[in-house]
Amino acid sequence: MAVYNNVLELIGNTPIVRNQRIDTGVCELYFKMESTNPGGSIKDRIGLVMIEDAERRGKLSPGATIVEGTAGNTGLALALVAQQKGYRLVLVVPDKMSREKIFNLKAMGAEVVLTRSDVTKGHPEYYQDMARRIAEETPGAIYINQFGNDSNPTAHEFGTGPEIWQQMGHDMDAMVFGVGSGGTLTGLSRFFTRAAPHVELILADPVGSVLTRYVNDKVLDKSGGSWTVEGIGGDYLTAISDFEHVKKAYAISDRESFEVARELLRSEGILGGSSTGTVIAAALRYCREQTTPKKVVAFVCDTGNKYLSKMYNDYWMRDNGYITRESTGDLRDLINRPYSERDTIVVRPNETLTVAYQRMKLYDVSQLPVMDGDRIVGIVDESDVLLKVHNNPCQFQCPVADAMITKLDLVDVRTDVNELMPLFERGHVAIVVDGDRFIGLITRMDLLNFLRRRGS
Ligand SMILES: Cc1ncc(COP(=O)(O)O)c(C=O)c1O
Repeated sequence: MAVYNNVLELIGNTPIVRNQRIDTGVCELYFKMESTNPGGSIKDRIGLVMIEDAERRGKLSPGATIVEGTAGNTGLALALVAQQKGYRLVLVVPDKMSREKIFNLKAMGAEVVLTRSDVTKGHPEYYQDMARRIAEETPGAIYINQFGNDSNPTAHEFGTGPEIWQQMGHDMDAMVFGVGSGGTLTGLSRFFTRAAPHVELILADPVGSVLTRYVNDKVLDKSGGSWTVEGIGGDYLTAISDFEHVKKAYAISDRESFEVARELLRSEGILGGSSTGTVIAAALRYCREQTTPKKVVAFVCDTGNKYLSKMYNDYWMRDNGYITRESTGDLRDLINRPYSERDTIVVRPNETLTVAYQRMKLYDVSQLPVMDGDRIVGIVDESDVLLKVHNNPCQFQCPVADAMITKLDLVDVRTDVNELMPLFERGHVAIVVDGDRFIGLITRMDLLNFLRRRGS
């Protein structure tokens, strides 16, 4: 193994892993592991090439400012390259982006400017328009603009494409990818049409994106729907995208994308992001439709680390209706963490308030049922703990039993949902029981989740 001078040398030359367990019909499926790039995604490649091309063209002087509008993988990639090369990086980020992403970008040294998420192209506060303006107003700054920058497809035409072709020993039949900016698509199209035109280019697209119909039916819808998978799909064609050589597109639902990403981890031990689920799901459909054996390569576009609290979290999957339990027709349908499955976060009466406080923080809940064996004997919330520790000598060492509320508003599991409202108006949670058996808690958020699932 070589010793590298810096992390930028680790970009690209990612491994390919052959599928072992997932059923691919007559085909062989190979995973191109872009998740192993140092910034965790395929975007590291374009981060490096877009900046080095700008340097070569004399557009970036030492210490200059780079501006881009993104909170996604391109932001992380640019942050890595800018940091290593000594540039200032300003990222304009819509305020709907997760706090984790923003923390991550700031920790890498990027300056983050938050802007509105509820405005579209053409509005001065739209993140891309704002990034362009900041670049124009900052002396010596450049707007890197992955959506219109030809160095983006170039990175794939001369990097990703030849690398895959060579790794596969010039023996492959299809390549499956997603489209965000269109850089991967256009770069791979240019390379494969030149070097191996028989390789079929297959698009993996979220349901709701307009790209599938554009590829399959040559119809460009004016507007699309919405989807949860991150980084791919679109409601317009970007300046750098060239779909001419794409053979076929598959529209994959969020649910299928998440299920396939989880299966990839369970069966192959590969932790990919949400768009990886879409890409592999499309690859599997393609493979299973074939009647003659083919070698198919599909991207693991980014690492799944960023999605641990979302699609790899069963509670989040249930809250959002991606995992469904059979309906019981009673209040159990609203309980996200049933006690019978040991999912409810509880505390014992003789445990200390420190334990209760730490558990609330760890699991991000505001109250804990207090369980003596399988019997609920109380409930303790943030204000009970606060009242007890404030001006009290035992403070956090007091047992939970001293702080808990014991006069409980128990709700029978067969109670009508509408009857929960007065309880929530009083600021309580519903403690659901079946006889003397504790079933679980229902919070206001659980009710909101339930109503949203029911309405969608
Ligand atoms: C997270 C993510 N972003 C972006 C893309 C698409 O890349 P491009 O912007 O090159 O179209 C993919 C898939 O390839 C992806 O998974």
